Amino acid sequence: MGTQRELVDQRRENRAMVEGWPPCQLDALSRRLAGPPLVYRVKLGDVGVALGVALVEGWAAVSSVGVTLTNLAPMDINGASAIVTGGASGIGAACARQLAAKGAKVVIADLQEDKGNELAKEIGGAFCKVDVTNTDDIINAVEMAKSMGPLRVLVNSAGIGWAQRTVGRGGYDTAANLDAFRKVLAINLTGTFDCIRIAATAMSQTEPLAHGERGAIVNMASAAAFDGQIGQAAYSASKGGVVGMTLPIARDLSAVGVRVNTVAPGLIDTPIYGEGENSEAFKANLEKGVLFPHRLGSPDELASMVVECVTNSYMNAETIRVDGGIRMPPK
Ligand code: NAI
Repeated sequence: MGTQRELVDQRRENRAMVEGWPPCQLDALSRRLAGPPLVYRVKLGDVGVALGVALVEGWAAVSSVGVTLTNLAPMDINGASAIVTGGASGIGAACARQLAAKGAKVVIADLQEDKGNELAKEIGGAFCKVDVTNTDDIINAVEMAKSMGPLRVLVNSAGIGWAQRTVGRGGYDTAANLDAFRKVLAINLTGTFDCIRIAATAMSQTEPLAHGERGAIVNMASAAAFDGQIGQAAYSASKGGVVGMTLPIARDLSAVGVRVNTVAPGLIDTPIYGEGENSEAFKANLEKGVLFPHRLGSPDELASMVVECVTNSYMNAETIRVDGGIRMPPK
């Protein structure tokens, strides 16, 4: 400890340092902090002064009615085109609606013509009949999207569920159906990759936005990618494949300014579980395992995360569970 006189001098010096802190240094300091804490401690010399500093520049402009994030630069999809595979139903349909609400021209790429056309009319988009296992269909959807605006968004929501145990009780014939296994992988995994490679090729030819950004892709995996249940070998393999390829594809597409993320839904109330009494009973049983809230998720809750992955320019190469905290038991 110094003398009383030295302490007073030191305090005066500290105050001068802080008060005279040039804006560029404050700015640099603000950039070094990961989040927007408005108050933090600064330790100066050996005196240890706790100082509240409100960092305003480049951050949040706080008003009496709320907070405006002035430093958030979301990818603008207004007037761009977007493709949503599986967009005629469930999570895909909710994504199509939310992307359209942000001004995107959405191509609904699905097998279901009636539902697809109806939704396209509702949101001012277009329907393209697509089987994601057919490359020509995918190219048609991409060309249609290109005619509506620069292609900046692809959401891969087309998928099917399938459950069968690996072995049966009889002979070899009762072992799991290999064609079914191949079909699930063809739609959920290979179909997703085919859509990515074709759509990303078109995206790579668009004019870049700010910072070289050209577009964003979001895939739909599943909690089953991590906690596959009894009978889910094919489904879990397909969704685990989607999770696994997210990082390498994001790395590939970084060269052309396209981000890639994957959302892994838990139990979402969509037609994938069928309709009618049995399906309702099945869903009621499923939702018991959800940590909180004790219910199935809504397609809009999933779509909201998809839209965040699309528009948040710093979101890349990640898989995010959106599942109410459920960890699936064996059955
Ligand atoms: P959904 O059955 O409501 O919608 C799936 C859509 O994909 C349908 O419109 C269907 O026609 C389309 N589709 C199926 N095969 C296709 C193909 N070969 N080519 C083009 N379109 C095809 O299902 P949901 O629930 O909206 O599922 C969307 C995605 O989310 C799927 O990939 C699914 O595996 C995944 N998921 C869903 C969960 C849920 O609880 N609903 C949970 C975890 C993952």
